[in-house]
Amino acid sequence: MKNNAIAIAIDGPAAAGKSTVAKIVAESLSYIYIDTGAMYRALTLKAIEENIQLDDENSLISLLERTDIKLKQSEAGQIIIVDDMDVTAEIRSQKVTNHVSYVAKHPIIREEMVKRQQSFATNLGVVMDGRDIGTHVLPNAEVKIFLIATVEERAKRRYEENSKKGYYSDMEELKQEIEQRDLIDSKREASPLIKASDASEIDTTSLSINQVAQRILAEVYKIIHD
Ligand code: DC
Repeated sequence: MKNNAIAIAIDGPAAAGKSTVAKIVAESLSYIYIDTGAMYRALTLKAIEENIQLDDENSLISLLERTDIKLKQSEAGQIIIVDDMDVTAEIRSQKVTNHVSYVAKHPIIREEMVKRQQSFATNLGVVMDGRDIGTHVLPNAEVKIFLIATVEERAKRRYEENSKKGYYSDMEELKQEIEQRDLIDSKREASPLIKASDASEIDTTSLSINQVAQRILAEVYKIIHD
C-alpha cells in the first residue's frame, strides 16, 4: 500500500467542471485543493485595474513580482487573497474571464506561476486543477485526469451557474467565449492545454458531477491500495 497522500492533477478545457469536481475529490480525501486558474485570474484582475496592456509581458511580470496571491481554505470554500484583499468574486467577472487567456499565454508569467503552484504543493495530499498540471506543474502526479465535455454542455452548465447567481447570460455568447478561450489556451506556445500522455480522459457530457468525482476517486483508491 502506497502513502495515501498523493498528488492528483485535473486538467481540461474551460467550463468542463474541473473545479467543482476537484473540490469534491479534495474534500472526500481531506486533501488541499489548489485552483491554478484563480491565480491567472487574480493577475488579470490587477492588470486591468492598473491599465496594463495584456500583451506587455515585461509589465505583467513586474506586476506579478509585486503581487502576493494566496489561496485560503474557508468554511465557504476557497478564497483568493491578492495583497490582503479578498478578490474571490471579482476574479469571476465576465471582464476577467474574457481577458485571462491573454495573460496566461506569456511564457515568463507561466514560469513564475508554475513555481508558485509547485511551492503550494510541497506537502502531498493535493488536488490541483488547471490546463498544464499533468504536463508541467505536477508531471509526477500519481493520478492525472483530463476532463472534457461538448461545448454545448459546457455553455449550458455555465448558463445554469450564472442563473443561480441571479444573472441572465446569452447561450450563444457563452459558447463563443468558451470556444475562444479554448482556442487561445490550446494554441499558445507555452505549455498549451493538452492531455498528458498518461492522463485518463473522462467525457463528462452525460455524467453528473458526483459520477465524475466517483470515477476519479476510484482511480485514487486503486493507487492508494495497490
Ligand atoms: O480554470 P479557469 O477558467 O479559472 O482558468 C482561467 C484561465 O487561466 C484559462 O482560460 C487558462 C488559464 N489557465 C492556464 O493557462 N493554466 C492553468 N494551469 C490554469 C488556468
